[in-house]
Amino acid sequence: LDQYAVFGNPIAHSKSPQIHTWFAQQTNQQLEYSAILAPEDDFEASAKSFFASGGLGANVTVPFKLDALVFADTLSPRARRAGAVNTLQKGKNNQIYGDNTDGVGLVRDLTNNLGFSLADKKVLLVGAGGAARGVIEPLLNAGVAQLKIANRTPEKAQQLVKIFHGLQPETQLTSGNWASLEANQFDLIINATSSSLAGDLPPLPDHLFTQQSLAYDLMYSQQATPFMLWAKQQGATQVADGLGMLVEQAAEAFFLWRQVRPKTKLVLERLRPKQD
Ligand code: ATR
Repeated sequence: LDQYAVFGNPIAHSKSPQIHTWFAQQTNQQLEYSAILAPEDDFEASAKSFFASGGLGANVTVPFKLDALVFADTLSPRARRAGAVNTLQKGKNNQIYGDNTDGVGLVRDLTNNLGFSLADKKVLLVGAGGAARGVIEPLLNAGVAQLKIANRTPEKAQQLVKIFHGLQPETQLTSGNWASLEANQFDLIINATSSSLAGDLPPLPDHLFTQQSLAYDLMYSQQATPFMLWAKQQGATQVADGLGMLVEQAAEAFFLWRQVRPKTKLVLERLRPKQD
């Protein structure tokens, strides 16, 4: 069987093997997808041995997306701009191609699953680390009117503006600290900070949401994240976690590997824990 895998540390609770197994069943693809725990300081050895023993493609998750960028022999432009690789593919001459499907996954979840049209919208991206950087290009390409990047360390947000400035000249791309958000409103607020991991929340000002705003946390967990709870309290109309993005980035990787696009809706429904 054709071999695929996800690399991470930790990896035991990854949903990727389940997602790709369902994709494969649905599209009649014969493949095997496993979860590989790579040592934190030696992604390269793990990945090398996987591809040397016949592996055809891999997903890469925390904390190896930068290692995967370095590991890849060639990169897609979007992976280079994201500064991270979440998808690897073995190509001709055993060259390893690195791509990044995270941003496209977010945009597909927003538009296809959540029915949120990005065109001409005012978007606030909270955070300026690796996760934030990975979603900027697809948001710009979706034709948002404004993209503001706010971060605890505003210099890092400013760096991202420099990197992506000029990619979509029609979009107003700006950065700032928390205080710079006062008296602004956004149609979409994306939490790309890792603060949820610590049960924490960026200190965002009140009144950021309009009547039709969507709040989106790139994280997902069994319960609503602190950011999602805050957003509901603040009157966000719709609140979502990153489970849909996870499924959509997986579908994009699956398409790259197999040239078949799986249907994601049913997979997402099966993964979503029953809400009561
Ligand atoms: P990731 O790959 O998850 O993006 P990262 O690159 O370490 O991880 O970035 C973490 C992001 O979360 C950063 O934007 C960080 O803010 P700083 O750049 O100021 O460090 C943000 N972050 C982490 N914990 C936070 C908290 N408790 N409050 C606000 N922002 C937080």
